[in-house]
Amino acid sequence: MKVLLIGGGGREHALGWKIAQSPQLSKLYVGPGNPGLNHIGAPLAIAESDPAAVAALARDHAIDLVVVGPEAPLAAGVGDALRAAGIACFGPDKTAARLETSKSFMKEICAAAGAPTAAYGKFSEAAPAKAFLRGQTPPYVIKADGLAAGKGVIIAESLNQADDAVEAMLGGQFGEAGAAIVIEEFMTGEEASFFAITDGKTILPMIAAQDHKRAYDGDQGPNTGGMGAYSPAPVFTNAVYARAMSEIIEPVVAEMSARGTPYIGVLYAGLMIENERPRLVEFNVRFGDPECQVLMRRMRSDLLPALYAAATGTLNGHRFDWRDDAAALVVMAANGYPGAYEKGSPIEGVDKANAMPGVVVFHAGVKQQNGALLANGGRVLNVTATGAAISEAVARAYAGVDAIKWPGGFFRRDIGWRALERTP
Ligand code: AMP
Ligand code: GLY
Repeated sequence: MKVLLIGGGGREHALGWKIAQSPQLSKLYVGPGNPGLNHIGAPLAIAESDPAAVAALARDHAIDLVVVGPEAPLAAGVGDALRAAGIACFGPDKTAARLETSKSFMKEICAAAGAPTAAYGKFSEAAPAKAFLRGQTPPYVIKADGLAAGKGVIIAESLNQADDAVEAMLGGQFGEAGAAIVIEEFMTGEEASFFAITDGKTILPMIAAQDHKRAYDGDQGPNTGGMGAYSPAPVFTNAVYARAMSEIIEPVVAEMSARGTPYIGVLYAGLMIENERPRLVEFNVRFGDPECQVLMRRMRSDLLPALYAAATGTLNGHRFDWRDDAAALVVMAANGYPGAYEKGSPIEGVDKANAMPGVVVFHAGVKQQNGALLANGGRVLNVTATGAAISEAVARAYAGVDAIKWPGGFFRRDIGWRALERTP
């Protein structure tokens, strides 16, 4: 099978690493790729969010399956264009991608499917939004309806802050994404990310992971795309799994099909779990980054046939096997991230880290220049490790981190603390 993998971050390096192990793979192309991925697959220059260009590229290279890593190409309609051209695509059509690209669409589908999520109101004018806020209790959760690069959620402690958030969002702070806003009930509990792949009918559950969104130790500092991850997630018990499947994933997939917009790809449910009761915080139409990387480290089965089956409506009869080992991941980020940071600082020791027990380093924001590895993004390296328990996986990941010499970067020292408190 010839596969084109779209994307170039740590998530895609992990997907490519896993796909490359498949006996069914004849050729892997990556676009745009990164130095790590480019060792595994053949890099292609790609306009990844131009549906016609992606379809033409896939046709020119006789691609059997396109696997889309990030959400932007899906939101732009890459899935639609590929399917229209008769090319299998792992990733939903634009309409189904609205589960991620429109918070209010997600809410509407949850209501129709009876899936538990925070109560909410949708607004495009400030006055009714502020009136609604006065019927809520703090903290107030205000979200831009559209995609805002993970920055469109404000949790306000006071009514004043909440009013300001409403004004800023409807006033254009996030452009079109904030033309409408959603105001939600604040949910308490512990968050976990759960993943399932589907062809629109059959659902193949994966496993759960947890990430650390804040930049600094102790879950302090600004929100980021994720500074680390681990799996399994102790909060995601068998009872939570059963409820997440029967109350959220299954009815939502059925609702999407019933509307004539079947969901094809991976459905990422961001869950808030309290007393073993999961409620949906958000859907994403792609794998989580960095959660995907720990999932790939734990997957025993061949990923590629399942992705192809999901893309071609033949998932029935497939299953995933997982290693009993735990996996942990530490993100090494550029000094300053998630604010302004510099690019181009040299990184050494990645090969040394990769040679350590259980360690695999995935490339996220790096580039190769004259044989040297240079930082080229905010989140730069993902040091992953497996181990018999979370504690061993975490210790091995940090041994890998400590083997890497990169003065231009920082990382958190406490990845997995919640899990380690529960399962020492
Ligand atoms: P989202 O982009 O919708 O996932 O929101 C980003 C983060 O904000 C989530 O991961 C939660 O930590 C928090 N959050 C979002 N919505 C809520 C809510 N209704 N209640 C509590 N926390 C929330
Ligand atoms: N790690 C969170 C995300 O991928 O959205």
